[in-house]
Amino acid sequence: MLWIPGPTEVRPEVLAECTRPMIGHRSQACSDLIASLDPGLRLAFGLEAKSTSSVAVHTTSATGLMESALHGVGPRVLSIVGGAFAKRWAQIAGSMGKQVETLEVEWGRSVDADSLREALTERGPFDAVTLVSNETSTGVRTHLDRIAEVLRDFPDTLLLVDLVSYIAGAPVDFDTNGIDFGLAGVQKAFALPPGISVCCASDRFLVSAREQRDRGSYLDPVSFIEGHVARKTPSTPAIGLYYALAKQLEDISTGVTLPAADHGLVGAAAWFARFAKHERLQARTVEWAHGHGLELLPAADDASPTVSCIRAGGLDVGALTAGLSERGFEISNGYGPLKGQTFRIGHMGDHTEAGLEQLLSAADEVLAAL
Ligand SMILES: Cc1ncc(COP(=O)(O)O)c(C=O)c1O
Repeated sequence: MLWIPGPTEVRPEVLAECTRPMIGHRSQACSDLIASLDPGLRLAFGLEAKSTSSVAVHTTSATGLMESALHGVGPRVLSIVGGAFAKRWAQIAGSMGKQVETLEVEWGRSVDADSLREALTERGPFDAVTLVSNETSTGVRTHLDRIAEVLRDFPDTLLLVDLVSYIAGAPVDFDTNGIDFGLAGVQKAFALPPGISVCCASDRFLVSAREQRDRGSYLDPVSFIEGHVARKTPSTPAIGLYYALAKQLEDISTGVTLPAADHGLVGAAAWFARFAKHERLQARTVEWAHGHGLELLPAADDASPTVSCIRAGGLDVGALTAGLSERGFEISNGYGPLKGQTFRIGHMGDHTEAGLEQLLSAADEVLAAL
């Protein structure tokens, strides 16, 4: 059972969608399939009813869409870097010839609004800010509302947000938080097999993108977003994964994936109940860690609802993960420089509270043996 911070467990009925008979990607059936994704995606991104922002899907992993987002903005980029995936934004921007500045944040901490304001004021102007909403390497969530408040004073700077291990696990509020391009792979809180990514682009992102030269081809955001909107993807999509996404969005939106107590909830209410379940999974994981004298890496206010990154103290992380593996549960060691110092539990997607209890009692057993 996968309790790593993604890919996570996929329900058998969702996996089965990937094996449906193939259809032509220029057929009406495929156009209908693409169109069927939009209502669920709009709920996932938390779009307001009147929002003119565009949702889209592309056959690439999330890293591809990070590159794509950067094709749509001017050369001056400020990357907020407090973990491995935030650093990836800066590296991709650098590899594309952008003038990248970084705002370094201690790993395990969330960026504070004052330092962002200072960087934008003293080192700007910037065409775009990049950030990770939920840093999978450290289990830190960024407070998007605090970022939005700062960026309101810098109207020419676009906000590009990696929502990879956050969306479908917590509310995005794309419009309210002034996001211009939000992206995610689907193997995290959407609980799907990897291989496709979803995004949402604001109107002003698309205006900016159309002005950029040399946007490439496969990752040109204008091309694949316009293709999605026209229900004709520029190249052959991973149709099996589109079927799986359609089913999962429908199931989330109709409450099928919720605990019995929440059955009957539909639409936004069902999505909010999904987010509440993630909060409960996180709270229980923290309670368990505290019971063993262990602390989270981030401060409580910055702790991710989907990935708990726990300080190991004197614990042998390799022995813990191996002991759990023998019992059929996979969790993750710390990422990069945090290896051996932390371990991570991904409590996301369609995992249940009963399932978490099984993992935690197996972990109790392993810790007792250690
Ligand atoms: C926060 C975050 N961003 C980006 C990525 C990269 O995603 P992918 O491997 O799908 O390209 C990951 C993968 O774990 C991630 O956790």
